[in-house]
Amino acid sequence: MSFDRSIKIAPSILSADFANFGQEIRAIEAQGADWVHVDVMDGHFVPNLTFGPPAVKAFRPHVKTVMDVHLMIAPVDPYIEAYAEAGADFLTAHVEAGPHIHRTLQATRAAGMKAGVALNPGTPAEAALPLLDLADMVLVMTVNPGFGGQKFLDMTAKIRTIRAAIGDRPIHIQVDGGIDPVTAPLVAEAGADSLVAGSAVFRGGSVDNPGVYGENIAAIRAAATAGQKTA
Ligand code: DX5
Ligand code: ZN
Repeated sequence: MSFDRSIKIAPSILSADFANFGQEIRAIEAQGADWVHVDVMDGHFVPNLTFGPPAVKAFRPHVKTVMDVHLMIAPVDPYIEAYAEAGADFLTAHVEAGPHIHRTLQATRAAGMKAGVALNPGTPAEAALPLLDLADMVLVMTVNPGFGGQKFLDMTAKIRTIRAAIGDRPIHIQVDGGIDPVTAPLVAEAGADSLVAGSAVFRGGSVDNPGVYGENIAAIRAAATAGQKTA
């Protein structure tokens, strides 16, 4: 089977009700989420603090799709095994987080996970190109990481460069930050296939009113799929 470049919507639970993660995860999956995106922040690499390995491990039994863990921490390497034990399917580390990104990607795969490499908006596409054979995904940040609800930064030129370099290799391009039905077609047309969205998925809904999550996910997917078709 050829590599799946259809649009995957990955709601970020950073925008969920923090007192109710189990129900929130089940609700977004029931409403069409393809992956569940978990934002790990350390108050050092980014100015915000979220979940550690025990919290991620507690999310795992609720995730029936794909648990996509985005590490915004430095250093990364001492924690790779803990996130493998917590049940991450994808583990993504930032290229800016340390001097030995090749080792990080190798260790991630050796621990049985898919390896992602993330680029901050200020980091050029070229930083990812020598890493492609060690990566299952490149995450092009479309905001500076740290918080949900920020304004989209246009990284379409960077996405295009990485997409062209990937060719037919089985590597996803993910985008994260400010993705909604307006920005989704732009990044999909440029070559992104995995779209993280926090506020645009959870806005207006709740576990008691989960149909809104479904409408939000469907709107992002429809806009992105239309953009992909024009590529
Ligand atoms: C940003 C996080 C994102 C964030 C996206 O640091 O990595 O995953 O939650 O949130 P929105 O979609 O609201 O920009
Ligand atoms: Zn993220």
